[in-house]
Amino acid sequence: MLNFTFFNPTKAVFGKGQLQELDNLVPEKATVLITYGGGSAKRNGVLDRVKDVVAKSGRTVLEFGGIEANPEFSTLMKAVAIVREKKVDFLLAVGGGSVMDGTKFIASASCADNFVGKEAELLTFGFGAVPVERSIPLGTVVTLPATGSEMNCFAVISNGEDKLPFMHPSLFPVFSILDPELTFTLPENQVANGIVDAFVHVLEQYLTYPQAAPLQDRMAESILQTLIEIGPETLAKPQDYDARASLVWCATLALQGLIGVGVVPDWSTHMIGHELTALFRSAHARSLAVVLPGTMRVRKEQKKEKLLQYGERVWGIVEGSDDERIEAAIVKTEEFFNSLGVGTRLKDLGVTETDLDKIMANLEKHGMTALSERGDQTLDVSRRILEAVL
Ligand code: NZQ
Ligand code: ZN
Repeated sequence: MLNFTFFNPTKAVFGKGQLQELDNLVPEKATVLITYGGGSAKRNGVLDRVKDVVAKSGRTVLEFGGIEANPEFSTLMKAVAIVREKKVDFLLAVGGGSVMDGTKFIASASCADNFVGKEAELLTFGFGAVPVERSIPLGTVVTLPATGSEMNCFAVISNGEDKLPFMHPSLFPVFSILDPELTFTLPENQVANGIVDAFVHVLEQYLTYPQAAPLQDRMAESILQTLIEIGPETLAKPQDYDARASLVWCATLALQGLIGVGVVPDWSTHMIGHELTALFRSAHARSLAVVLPGTMRVRKEQKKEKLLQYGERVWGIVEGSDDERIEAAIVKTEEFFNSLGVGTRLKDLGVTETDLDKIMANLEKHGMTALSERGDQTLDVSRRILEAVL
């Protein structure tokens, strides 16, 4: 196990009726900008409920809607202008990963005094912290369990054909309200996306090589097994509180840091997935579900021990040669995604062989030329991964 420092300051406020807690969580007398997406929060009444509570205790409440899925830089800059003009001192994101991520960008960009007029440069720091002294503090009300953004300091921001990571330690939400009932209005495809995204987050921290971290392994396996158990249940019975509550907590724990401490991860599926989403507008999880099986097949030698462990502990696969067991584990993963209505081939995204050059060019442009846990996933390997899932 590698050395690590684990720090996660986000207060997770979980369960039914927790929206009321907003009055205790948002600073009194603050000027609060509530951010939301394309309208679901307005239509299903969550936005009004949030506003009613936040408007107490002498606060000034402003709102900014229209943050799109895969939040766009140009949209977010409109909110930055409001924050600067109205001297907003607290941001409250009401939505899924896109609204939460977009709000994180707004929080940092509004404080980036050295970047006024050239805020797009803030998107060039990747997984290195953006050079800001502070960010506007933010909280979240989660309406879509998937990304883990509610309890981490990362964001992914789109700027045309570029979809780029963005992070700063000041971007951990101060609190996140996790009320499973707020997710009951999600359409089936978004619930399925959430299950797949959380599953891939866990796998990308786990499916590497043995790293003498048995507790992290077992925590990862528990989340995977729980998703396999409750995923189909929460899809079939969307109003079943218990199944949905488990999905919400799985999604948060999948990417709030704990299962990834002390181990080297492999985020290659996410990095290739971001290019697919940027170029072909496929939903984040749909891109991942396609890339992952290709990664597993093409990288099966490098990931052999962990693939065998995954097959045995998560899927109960103990019969056959190593190769047969690994293939069976990959097929089980594909079947699981397919059973949720999520495709596992590029053609499911409308992507064909002729598109591969463009994807490769974007990976190169973004410096994604030495991916994986060992940094040995070159562009050639990434191309083979995509060819394996045509
Ligand atoms: O925009 P509205 O109208 O609100 O509709 C949204 C959106 O169209 C809808 N929705 C959300 N909550 C709902 C609802 N519809 C009905 N009822 C509700 N309760 O769902 C649609 C998708 O929302 P979005 O926020 O885009 O989905 P998700 O949570 O999957 O977020 C995806 C984004 O997060 C990034 C992705 O790259 C992508 O941009 N990620 C962020 C990460 C992080 N910060 O750590 C890690 C992830 O790997 C991921 O990259
Ligand atoms: Zn993801």
